[in-house]
Amino acid sequence: LPASLTIDPAFTVGEVDPRLYGSFVEHMGRCVYTGIYEPGHPRADADGFRSDVASLARELGVPLIRYPGGNFVSGYKWEDGIGPVADRPTRLDLAWRSLETNRVGVDEFQRWAAGIGAETMMAVNLGTRGIEAARDLIEYCNLPGGTYWSDLRRKNGVPEPYGIRTWCLGNEMDGPWQIGHKSAYEYGRLAAETAKAMRLVDPSIELVACGSSNSSMPTFGSWEATVLGETYDQVDYVSMHAYYEQRGDDRDSFLACSIDMDRFIDAVIATADHVRAVKRRAKRVNISFDEWNVWYLKRFEGEANLAIREAPPLIEDVYSVTDAVVVGNMLISLLRHADRVRIGCQAQLVNVIAPIMTSPGGGAWKQTTYHPFALTSRYGRGTVLRVEPVSPTYETKWLGEVPLLDAVAVLSASEDVNSFRPTPAGGAQPAEIREVEKSSLSLFAVNRSQTTPLALDVDLRAWPGYRVTSHVALADDDPDAVNTEAEPDRVVPRPLEPPAVDGGRVTVELPPLSWNLVRLA
Ligand code: AHR
Repeated sequence: LPASLTIDPAFTVGEVDPRLYGSFVEHMGRCVYTGIYEPGHPRADADGFRSDVASLARELGVPLIRYPGGNFVSGYKWEDGIGPVADRPTRLDLAWRSLETNRVGVDEFQRWAAGIGAETMMAVNLGTRGIEAARDLIEYCNLPGGTYWSDLRRKNGVPEPYGIRTWCLGNEMDGPWQIGHKSAYEYGRLAAETAKAMRLVDPSIELVACGSSNSSMPTFGSWEATVLGETYDQVDYVSMHAYYEQRGDDRDSFLACSIDMDRFIDAVIATADHVRAVKRRAKRVNISFDEWNVWYLKRFEGEANLAIREAPPLIEDVYSVTDAVVVGNMLISLLRHADRVRIGCQAQLVNVIAPIMTSPGGGAWKQTTYHPFALTSRYGRGTVLRVEPVSPTYETKWLGEVPLLDAVAVLSASEDVNSFRPTPAGGAQPAEIREVEKSSLSLFAVNRSQTTPLALDVDLRAWPGYRVTSHVALADDDPDAVNTEAEPDRVVPRPLEPPAVDGGRVTVELPPLSWNLVRLA
């Protein structure tokens, strides 16, 4: 049976906030040390940051990076990471039982993030610390000068304030593993008072309250209701976190996990809107999905209590073709909710469950999951369109009967896409760029069948004159194939023959177990 969908400019979801394509750098494992930062590496810049990693991050297209944690932030003293590096203390980080040398702190990270074209989403410590440390940090970062902390930043060589816009009020405070774990009410009160003080320093900021660490938490739902009950007027977003993995050999269920993600998002929206109704507020609290990814938690269970070391390799998942298809599908789920999910952060950026891998002293390469992210970030800018898919279904152990197809479309004005393309100095634009001078459409589609191609009939009657300009698919004869330092391009998206539009319809063939990007203009 064929699948079908309709692309119609009237079916709008909303505008994509570019921050949907955020990432996450935590002081965890080798994300910072021997990840983004490795002084002495042949490709390190004058600040000790690896230029090979920076250029992969730039190409990935991550306009926002959450920092510095994660569980790490709940024990972090940000003041340890400022001033002369030689004077900075080495601390015991209890989240990951690691040695934190503090060679990278707020100022170094800001410089690095600006260099890759990203803004920082800064998290404050509401585990071991609270209002005072948070208001000091925002004063250090966002005030121009004339106060103790802002003058200290100037003394540390940064005359202009950073103007960090988005701030997380702690991390996963519902989790018993979190240092300084709190009840929903305890956290809600602390978050509200911290938010108040931070806004008194800088009224222009946006704030994120912690939602549940995942939808299986026993407090999920009531946590959000209580926390937003205490913080509704102070915050702009509630956070969501979700990680998925294949359990045993049940790949069919794993391939459908974005359906669980959809339901999770819908439940948090409903809870936030319930609080809005009870409080009779006009304002809506939106979602910051600030940790999401594939993470094979079971593989790394033994790592939790390792000997205390500096930058130990932690949760360095190597991703397969299947994982990349799932990551692409999770991005489709985020896009489908773009009206309410305004911020997203794939966790994490380098080495730690990451699209970019490095070897110390050696190379940096793209995991399979890098590709759907980079292409969605590049082409998924503009207005999201619902596509009303009709699809054959299959049976899963976890979620019952689910569609084989998942899809969403994005309508982009030329500048949405072209803002990512460097114009060659003085030269003519390459043909592909000229093509997107007018509005273009990007259709993102996944075929969850492990065995069968899916013929997708696309109704394009609302787009006279449009043709398929390209079709790329991430698929492989071996769904377990991975990229490695020795073979970094084993898995890449491959171009397929663009099908012809006929009478306002086109049939696109989606390979088995594939993530697809079909571009129309
Ligand atoms: O991303 C890894 C960890 O997962 C983060 O530190 C924490 O917030 C989450 O549990």
